[in-house]
Amino acid sequence: MANVIIIGAQWGDEGKGKIVDLLTDQFDIVARYQGGHNAGHTVMINGQQFILHLIPSGILRGNRMCIIGTGVVIDPKALLEEVRMLEEANIKVRGNLFISNRAHLILPYHRAQEQASENARGSKKIGTTARGIGPAYEDKMARRGLRMTDLLDPKALKKIIFGITEEKKRLIASVNGSSLLDPNQIYSEYVSYGEQLREFIVDTAFLLNEKIQNGSRVLFEGAQGTLLDIDHGTYPYVTSSNSMAGGACVGTGVAPSWITGTIGIAKAYTTRVGGGPFPTELSGSIGEKLRQQGAEFGASTGRPRRCGWFDGPATSYSVILNNLQAIVITKLDVLDEFEEIQICTGYSYRGNRLNEFPAEIKVLESVKPIYKSIPGWTCSTAGIRNYDELPSKAKDYLQMLSDITKTEFSFISTGPDREHTILMADSWINKVIYSNNHK
Ligand code: IMP
Repeated sequence: MANVIIIGAQWGDEGKGKIVDLLTDQFDIVARYQGGHNAGHTVMINGQQFILHLIPSGILRGNRMCIIGTGVVIDPKALLEEVRMLEEANIKVRGNLFISNRAHLILPYHRAQEQASENARGSKKIGTTARGIGPAYEDKMARRGLRMTDLLDPKALKKIIFGITEEKKRLIASVNGSSLLDPNQIYSEYVSYGEQLREFIVDTAFLLNEKIQNGSRVLFEGAQGTLLDIDHGTYPYVTSSNSMAGGACVGTGVAPSWITGTIGIAKAYTTRVGGGPFPTELSGSIGEKLRQQGAEFGASTGRPRRCGWFDGPATSYSVILNNLQAIVITKLDVLDEFEEIQICTGYSYRGNRLNEFPAEIKVLESVKPIYKSIPGWTCSTAGIRNYDELPSKAKDYLQMLSDITKTEFSFISTGPDREHTILMADSWINKVIYSNNHK
């Protein structure tokens, strides 16, 4: 048995898509468990770029079962666009993709609601992806959400949509002055989505458990990052779901006792999109250089990502929350041209070193990073596949990150392609995933 969870160990965009794609080779099934089309996974295969928002990147293998689990919120229009994009690239989707009948839907009023609530926040905007994710989860918790299974019963669907749209119109009009929501239009759009998606909708919890009991190996693919987790992240500047490892069980209906371990993905530096505290953020030319070298622009929204040095306390917090067996360090090559590199080893607040990652946003906004400065390696690591070929200063840097986070590095990514990866021989990933593979 090897059922493994992959999560982002920072604020998202750590490069999970590539690592999931790489590891998929060793698994039978890839399952998404939370978030929606706010996520954006970029995968390069033989020079061709794919950006996936909802469908697990395992689909690109062409012969893996891919699950969109119960914990995901689905905009059917975005999903169908993704199916179309993949089929146009000759990638097999039908027969490989299965969507939970219990997953909740995003409706047009969720986007309108989100816009209204972001506007009302003024300078305290969360900076969401504006995809209706938060309001869809709000409705799920308030027990007035629509689920995939509702799409399959047009009569019942009509009743629910007409009832709830009236309520939403009043709500949105109270903030915006008016609302253009039309229940007839929403109904006819969604009933058509139901027809198009019918073949994908199943009880994925049942399917996954049956497969696992019969020996299939599952890779659980997290979206966003641990520090955006609704419960443990930098609240309220978070997403509306459990992006940490714990979310994988709830979001798929697979019990914790089936899980072998968790791998965290972290960039060799740090980025964040949207609002919220970011202690190691670099606002000047160094931040700009990181953004340009790392092509740090959001895969979903195109927004420039905020960039900063590696944040030891934030990543260590992730290690604890997820009990990470291994970290994968991505984008090492982005640091190739820096003469000096800083690593944040701790936070100080009002002159005292903090021992914990603070819950209070005001504190996190005013902590001072404690940096360790090291000379850069100033030569190319791009595309290196063998650890011994790394410059010694890059090895020292990696060792320092491993010491700070008290976690081993299994993979080091040195470029966007599948091949641009170093697998550490003695690592957890090699021992548990590759060596135990009976496929
Ligand atoms: P929401 O998920 O659209 O509600 O946005 C909430 C916060 O999470 C915002 O700061 C977004 O920028 C951030 N966020 C959502 N999805 C991602 C992602 O895939 N990568 C990085 N940040 C994300």
